[in-house]
Amino acid sequence: MQPHDQVPFRDFEVLPEAEMQARARDFHALLARRHSCRDFAAAPVPQAVIADCIRAAGTAPSGANHQPWFFAAISSPDLKAQVRAAAEAEERGFYDEGKAPADWRAALAPLGTDASKPYLETAPWLVAIFAQRRGGPRPGDKAKNYYINESVGIATGMLITALHQAGLATLTHTPNPMQFLNRICGRPDDEKPFLLLVAGYPAASATIPTHALIKKPLGDIASFL
Ligand SMILES: Cc1cc2nc3c(=O)[nH]c(=O)nc-3n(C[C@H](O)[C@H](O)[C@H](O)COP(=O)(O)O)c2cc1C
Repeated sequence: MQPHDQVPFRDFEVLPEAEMQARARDFHALLARRHSCRDFAAAPVPQAVIADCIRAAGTAPSGANHQPWFFAAISSPDLKAQVRAAAEAEERGFYDEGKAPADWRAALAPLGTDASKPYLETAPWLVAIFAQRRGGPRPGDKAKNYYINESVGIATGMLITALHQAGLATLTHTPNPMQFLNRICGRPDDEKPFLLLVAGYPAASATIPTHALIKKPLGDIASFL
């Protein structure tokens, strides 16, 4: 392949302005109905759904198209129990043994989170997301990756959006540190655990912290120059 090979731009649909506006409005309405869930039902979710959502995430833009991400999707009860045990051990250090800085604890207080994470076992799926320091667009590539956090963050956002669009609730979970995920998921040491996404249906008893419903209005998050 020549380095500058090109094909005509494709897969693009020009929309009438009214439809564009309607789609933008509808998409906002869809995403405004996403809420982090910390109480999951045990009901199963087909692997094929999770796989398609990961495929969607894998279409994300990335630095030099190196796609520096890996998604380990866990449904095995034994592995979920191992994740829960390891995450709760880290979280006990954070919440109960004073490792958390006071200002961080204060920021988390309105969410009512603590070291107990039963949902890591009850939810049907955990997706551990890893950031790769080296790679490339083809299997076996070992080039240096660029803009790793930006790329993996965008792909993760797309995964959260895909799961929500498929009718699933999620939680973005970040036990700190998360190196235990490499061992449990069998990932190499040079991959950095990025975050752990929990996916499934909300339990009937699930609640939303009202703090999480405060979303900044457009005027506070954007300017049109
Ligand atoms: C990078 C990141 C890390 C997070 N880590 C945790 C976590 O470890 N535990 C948790 O309960 N929620 C975690 N959250 C969820 C946030 O608390 C939640 O997104 C926020 O309160 C807004 O609520 P919403 O997601 O329902 O809009 C995290 C979110 C992000 C983006």
